[in-house]
Amino acid sequence: MAVQWYPGHMNKARRIIKETMSDVDLVIEVMDARIPFSSENPMVAELRQHRPCIKILNKSDLADPVVTKLWLKHFEKEQGVKAQALSVLDKSRTKNLPELCRKLLPNRDTAAKYRRVMIMGIPNVGKSTLINTLAGKTLAKVGDEPAVTKVVSSAQQRIILEGGIALSDTPGILWPKIENENSSYRLAVTGAIKNTAIDFEDIALFAADYLIDAYSELVIKRYKLKQCPATGIRLLEEIGRRRGCLRAGGIIDIQRASEILIHEIRSGSLGALSFETPQMIAKEIEKDVEL
Ligand code: G4P
Repeated sequence: MAVQWYPGHMNKARRIIKETMSDVDLVIEVMDARIPFSSENPMVAELRQHRPCIKILNKSDLADPVVTKLWLKHFEKEQGVKAQALSVLDKSRTKNLPELCRKLLPNRDTAAKYRRVMIMGIPNVGKSTLINTLAGKTLAKVGDEPAVTKVVSSAQQRIILEGGIALSDTPGILWPKIENENSSYRLAVTGAIKNTAIDFEDIALFAADYLIDAYSELVIKRYKLKQCPATGIRLLEEIGRRRGCLRAGGIIDIQRASEILIHEIRSGSLGALSFETPQMIAKEIEKDVEL
């Protein structure tokens, strides 16, 4: 699955965020807990430099809690990073973030009035939801069409939170890092890449193969199967059969079955799923280096 990002947009984003960074004391990077590697952008580390960073593994309500713990451990090894699993829809837990920002900026110059915080991340990970939750009101969402990079504008305002935290009201939007083909599939499966840019059958097949391997029990339970099919295409056929996705002549409509599977993965109907583990990613990177 080929996804294109335009170098012009990337360079512009890097330049503008770099300029904005001089007014930022701490970065909150929002990632998708189901795909922390594929939804992370390495440019954040390059741009934030010495500034502390809170990495939020958001949508943790949809991710496998065992795998999320492994990722938290993985990210906390990074210099200046505090990692947290969160669902930013959960207001009671999200409201502790200003306190964490304060803890990470203890030696702030007392002459400065506020600790300045900026939220960054790829589209669809929950940046706007987080800003709205922290602000306690709904602010306009910035556009995030695939392959289009929008960044913090000069018209940016700050939201004053408790304890002297000033939060930029516009997030820094970065493109996803698509270093390998699996990452583009995982971004599409979880919905970070918009449906207009994807071929449902292609990504459903990728998802079905993975689910058979990693979450066969959940597949059996959800689709009331006696046993897990051996291949992704067999699973899609079973889903099609069970959900009445039939075309003339009783042929199974794989396209419709694919849409059902992807929709049910994204909504959490199959259960809490993670699509990458630190170990799996380490292997993939090793393999890429060998090639
Ligand atoms: P963005 O600014 O980073 O682009 O993301 P945004 O806040 O717009 O969130 C994208 C979608 O993800 C929204 O769904 C939002 O409700 C959902 N979302 C955000 N945080 C969480 C979370 O912690 N858990 C779950 N389950 N969902 C979360 P949406 O408005 O329905 O958009 P879409 O999914 O139809 O694109």
